[in-house]
Amino acid sequence: MSIIYYPNKSLLSKTEEINFNEVSKQQLLDWKSLMIEEMIKLEGIGLAANQIGINKKMCVVYLPSSTNNESLFLINPKIIRAGKDSIIYKEGCLSFPSIQVDKKRNKIVTVQFENEDGEIIERVFKGIESVCVQHEIDHLNGITFIDDFNEQDKEAVIEKIEKFVQS
Ligand code: CO
Repeated sequence: MSIIYYPNKSLLSKTEEINFNEVSKQQLLDWKSLMIEEMIKLEGIGLAANQIGINKKMCVVYLPSSTNNESLFLINPKIIRAGKDSIIYKEGCLSFPSIQVDKKRNKIVTVQFENEDGEIIERVFKGIESVCVQHEIDHLNGITFIDDFNEQDKEAVIEKIEKFVQS
């Protein structure tokens, strides 16, 4: 399993909701460790399943605020509330090596998701963790952080990624 680069179509389409009747807990735990492993190996702070070619609605988010370098595994995540304040952060993405984008996001979001036991969880994300979870949920919906770029700027990004990957 390796990371998929833009503009691979895996990054441009919506992932499938996970149905707990069709997927075993072991399968979910395997995906979770695979994604966390890949994220750590590539020194990322978040990863969506479609970035490693798994067309399922799940992602991992690293939590710098946690006591023991925890990462959170989110199944079928969706934003259910967002604060009015915004935050601009220079974002990177493992699928866009060498690219950074100043992106405006909600400073605080509440996300509803399921854990590997199928329990529904609501969690408030703030600061960098909020930026990260919004970025990953976008991925799961087939949205990337350059979707609002014009065609010419998108081409420039693609060229830069190709150069990086070949070097
Ligand atoms: Co990303």
